[in-house]
Amino acid sequence: MPNIVVVGAQWGDEGKGKVVDHLAEQSRWVVRFQGGNNAGHTLVVNGEKLIVHLVPSGVLHAGCTCVIGNGVVVDPTVLGHELDMLATRGHALEPDRLVLSTEAHLILPWHLALDQAREKSLGDRKIGTTGRGIGPAYEDKVGRRGVRVAELLDPETLRERVEEALAWHGPRLPPDHGLETEQIVAALAPVAARLRPYSRPTVGLLHEAIRRGDNILFEGAQGTFLDVDHGTYPFVTSSSTVAGGAAAGSGVGPGALHKVVGITKAYTTRVGSGPFPTELFDATGERLRAVGQEFGATTGRPRRCGWLDLPMLQHAHRLNGFSAIALTKLDVLSGMERIAVAVSYRGVSDYPTGARALAQVEVEYVELPGWSEDIRECRRFEDLPGACQDYVRFVEDHLGVPAEMLGVGPGREALILR
Ligand code: IMP
Repeated sequence: MPNIVVVGAQWGDEGKGKVVDHLAEQSRWVVRFQGGNNAGHTLVVNGEKLIVHLVPSGVLHAGCTCVIGNGVVVDPTVLGHELDMLATRGHALEPDRLVLSTEAHLILPWHLALDQAREKSLGDRKIGTTGRGIGPAYEDKVGRRGVRVAELLDPETLRERVEEALAWHGPRLPPDHGLETEQIVAALAPVAARLRPYSRPTVGLLHEAIRRGDNILFEGAQGTFLDVDHGTYPFVTSSSTVAGGAAAGSGVGPGALHKVVGITKAYTTRVGSGPFPTELFDATGERLRAVGQEFGATTGRPRRCGWLDLPMLQHAHRLNGFSAIALTKLDVLSGMERIAVAVSYRGVSDYPTGARALAQVEVEYVELPGWSEDIRECRRFEDLPGACQDYVRFVEDHLGVPAEMLGVGPGREALILR
């Protein structure tokens, strides 16, 4: 098995968790390399629904060790709660199944306060962040004043770092923030004790795994168009969500990334603000939201819905170098008489970078025939209605990338492999 990077090809929520859960079955390691608990992966197993935000989606496979890599920002309290939740649901993770990089940066209470205060002050121009402190934590990291997991484990250093951070951020925090060093340090003590057994340097661990010939699955969070460089800036998250981010965020060389799988829904969704060329504001959009249950796994917000956007996916292919794609939630399109797909932006030769240019494109569509059959029980490509097969082939032909996996329902088994 090669080392595989799984990334979202759109604006997140493409169903990466399910694909990763499937691939994890044959993986020795699953590594998160960016983002934080802004992500939310819903795993449906035997009708039971598990939502994880920080723990990699390999969590349900006993033979798989999950790694939270150096590139992730970790809210230690949330991670502690997640471990407790998994234990309560019968999926307790021992330190041989989960490793937390001591170099990962922490999301601490002031990051949440700053994130929420900034969104409030932006009013109509808000980014629509998840409010989990992701942006401010990455800002501190890049500003060289971040606090890392290693420092959480050392109470004296932690106290110093919290004090420094509060002094630095004081002027930008809302006047009633109520954050205070001793109280923060005291609250973190039991969290540090909970996470200590899991915490260690992870770069050497992964290289040792590579040397042994173990295979590694790199699990991306969010999606290509939320990438801080390549996304619809400024309506983006604060990390590198593209496949290349897997190398930097885990400390392996790009040569160790053998295969890149891009996950795309059979249509498009987005949460938060920012341009969305194929967005539907009518009953069809409502239908996609209702049938696809398009509500954020992290914030519960209704997702904006629209048609599949091939210029966007073609650009995602350039940015990530897909070896294959997975086309998820095909079943949501069942029962639609005609399905539109964006094939070009009028008069635009290169993909527009940045939010302003993308907001102005005029989308050109083709319409494909829909299918009325329920496809949720299909397990082979040949079992799908002809129009559904044609839809898949249309996407493959446009991208020049095979669709190796097709999602036909919410359950972990509702997957067609080709
Ligand atoms: P942040 O990552 O919380 O700073 O939010 C920045 C933007 O990314 C907002 O539009 C969020 O809605 C979006 N975002 C962050 N994480 C996810 C995700 O996992 N799925 C979809 N959108 C996300």
